[in-house]
Amino acid sequence: MTLTELITACGGNENLLRALRVEEQVIIELADPELRSSAVAELPFNTQLSQLTWQPERPLETHEWQQLGQWIEANQRKQLLGAQEITASIHRPSWHIAPPQGLLNDPNGFIYHQGEYHLFYQLYPFACDHKDKYWAHVTSTDLLNWTTQRIALCPSDWFDSHGVFSGHAVSNGDELMLFYTGNVRIGEQRDRITTQCLATSSDGLHFIKHGPVIDALPPSVTPHCRDPKIIRHNDHWLMLLGAQHQTADNQLQGRLAIYRSDDLYHWSYKGLYGDELGQFGYMWECPDLFELDSQLLGIICPQGIESSSEHHQIPHHNGYFKASLNQNSALTFDGFTTLDFGFDFYAPQTAETPDGRRILIGWMGLPDETDQPSNQDGWLHQLTCLRELSWEKGKIFQRPARELQALRGMQHRHTFTTESACQTLLLDTKSYELRTTMTWPETGQSTLRLMDNGDQYCDIILDSDNQRILLDRSHTLSTDGEQIREITWNTGEDVELQVLADHSSLEIFINNGEYAMTARVFTPEDATRLQLISDRPQLWQDVTFWPLG
Ligand code: FRU
Repeated sequence: MTLTELITACGGNENLLRALRVEEQVIIELADPELRSSAVAELPFNTQLSQLTWQPERPLETHEWQQLGQWIEANQRKQLLGAQEITASIHRPSWHIAPPQGLLNDPNGFIYHQGEYHLFYQLYPFACDHKDKYWAHVTSTDLLNWTTQRIALCPSDWFDSHGVFSGHAVSNGDELMLFYTGNVRIGEQRDRITTQCLATSSDGLHFIKHGPVIDALPPSVTPHCRDPKIIRHNDHWLMLLGAQHQTADNQLQGRLAIYRSDDLYHWSYKGLYGDELGQFGYMWECPDLFELDSQLLGIICPQGIESSSEHHQIPHHNGYFKASLNQNSALTFDGFTTLDFGFDFYAPQTAETPDGRRILIGWMGLPDETDQPSNQDGWLHQLTCLRELSWEKGKIFQRPARELQALRGMQHRHTFTTESACQTLLLDTKSYELRTTMTWPETGQSTLRLMDNGDQYCDIILDSDNQRILLDRSHTLSTDGEQIREITWNTGEDVELQVLADHSSLEIFINNGEYAMTARVFTPEDATRLQLISDRPQLWQDVTFWPLG
């Protein structure tokens, strides 16, 4: 039987959901198993998975695998037509990037290429679940207005059938190169096969998949090895991968795996890095590596590290190291600092602007938290605002990208004339930027209450007895996330705040970007009030705010 005869006997190419490759076997997953004809009745069929196994007389050739991928992609793109409309939702952001439908997670491939910014993100377009991921694509010339482009990559091929997972982009002359992790699951036991794949485009919109450029795992690394970041180092390229190392005594450790290449197509393994940290979580995801003011910095998302806060019990963390890379491309790390102290910040990526700024964007969400009120409207999660990074006082500072100032409407300023313990301001919008400075009471608390309608609200609390700033979202519509985050603050210094609100999110920048806290905050539509509640009302400072649109 030829491939074409097989597919005809399986109900035709429109009946194909997936094609998997296990050595020389071809496993075909069918939308409707009843469409099989008698010609394939003898072939083993797993009804649970709707998968038929075919052992061809000769191994399929590359072009035949490509043909299978193209048929499946055509079916997926047809299905996508029904998932493009933006659903109405009171929680939908007015200026952040959010999916029209389905589940968004990591930003991917953020890059400036041929006069335009390209940004991709992980998307499962058909439900608010973590299923087979696509790369959605948006472009911009000003980092402010984003145009939705056709879906860049679909999980259509034997090497990415269960998800075109995260990765980065390289602008290589006219060519835009996307490096990503191909995720495949085999059998009912869902054995994971992981490869690092390449897709390229000459017009920045249509991508040709080249399949795996790394098709094996590094020694002693589990199939949790993903999220390629490519950097130029001296005269060659390096690929950094988040990896899970399995030690001789079966401990699982997060590490970075590094590969090297001269041409971006052929990669040789260099080693695992991060041993100086010992046991530092069981997996690292989504690495990035860049310089700020001559300091090399590495971002990772470690899973399972010890938390410094009793309120942070989930395994997911984010942060950065000071890094150094020697002539031999060996990477070493020093220290670990949290990048964002809020609830919902993960898998960030950075890009360099033509004027030399380093801009970061992250996923405003977390891997295990899929129960949010926006699910009722058919969409879940969003990206953070764009943030400009700088290296100051030995730390990464983050400030909203200066481009976002163009979103500001008319400036309002509120000056406090009375010393009342509770001051209320009606902002009349849930999309705004707000600036104020809070001063510590000698004892007790001062609270800035945001997105408030009396019943539901989110508090920023200066808790002077415990010398910490709390972000408390326990009085908001419920989600399956945690409710309190904190920053220890023992200097007694005033707290300068810049808050960006966008319907169901708050991004809080403290002390001119020294600290950031990001939160999904779901409150009713009328929760547009701001309150200031203090044990020392005479300390209130003016509040400045701009509606954002
Ligand atoms: C992080 C992550 C990545 C992976 C992607 C899959 O959120 O788990 O490691 O590539 O999401 O969607």
